[in-house]
Amino acid sequence: MTRVIDGRALAARLRARLAAEVAALRAGRGIVPGLRVLLVGEDPASAAYVRTKEKMAREVGIDGRVVRLPSEVSEAEVLARVAAWNADPAVHGILVQLPLPAHIRTRSVLEAIDPAKDVDGFHPLNAGRLATLSGPPPEELLVPCTPRGCLLLLEEALGDLSALRGKRALVLGRSTIVGRPMAALLLAHDATVTIAHSRSRDLAEECRRAEILVVAVGRPELVRGGWLAPDSVVIDVGINRVGAADGTSRLVGDVAFAEALGRVAAITPVPGGVGPMTVACLLDNTLRACRRQLVVEG
Ligand code: GUN
Repeated sequence: MTRVIDGRALAARLRARLAAEVAALRAGRGIVPGLRVLLVGEDPASAAYVRTKEKMAREVGIDGRVVRLPSEVSEAEVLARVAAWNADPAVHGILVQLPLPAHIRTRSVLEAIDPAKDVDGFHPLNAGRLATLSGPPPEELLVPCTPRGCLLLLEEALGDLSALRGKRALVLGRSTIVGRPMAALLLAHDATVTIAHSRSRDLAEECRRAEILVVAVGRPELVRGGWLAPDSVVIDVGINRVGAADGTSRLVGDVAFAEALGRVAAITPVPGGVGPMTVACLLDNTLRACRRQLVVEG
């Protein structure tokens, strides 16, 4: 029997805990954590993601606000917006939705965000700290939201993260948003980690060896059931919209879900797996960033 890991339920439990903590912070110190999200352009998927982030932030009591700028906006205007948020004590978390239009240098924008407010964990200082960990990340480190959500889903499936020790873990995909930080987290929990990608020679064979498999490649149902090790735990980060012949469309992951059922020990569904956890971890990072800023500023 394959366990389908319920990301919606796990995310709802995390948000309920956050809502209680945000309420206590407001009651005790009169502080409301502030999150600002910058969306440049009209990409429909990005627009939908930031709407969810804003709505979920408000539901837990975080002051979440999205600023939308047209795709023609200059890099200087984006940098000015980030600088204003860096300087604003009511803003504890800053997220610039990616991808940015081609004329804006992503690296310049991410490096402009105050590392203490970098709730995406993409600033090189935070990414570097994650890459050089010698154990599980400390509370104050802002870890990228999607890999952190994947780690919490693994904890839910395995019972305890100590179960990762010595296990063969494969991360499929080497992006800076998911693949690389995911590999760093698994390594920090003593897994034996391989990163595979589009140029890897035999993806199927790499997958067959993996006891833990995290797939983040953005290719609908690339990973077939026959590639999966019996009794492995599979985390599917892919969210791909595919069209049917009748004109309708549906979301599928990077793993052929129906083929995996009955074969693996546990798998996350799409939708309802990693997606809700990413948003919950963003809210968690915002609260952590807020607390940290209160400690530093006194
Ligand atoms: N685009 C896709 N995923 C993400 C994410 O986690 N953060 C940001 N900022 N942009 C994204």
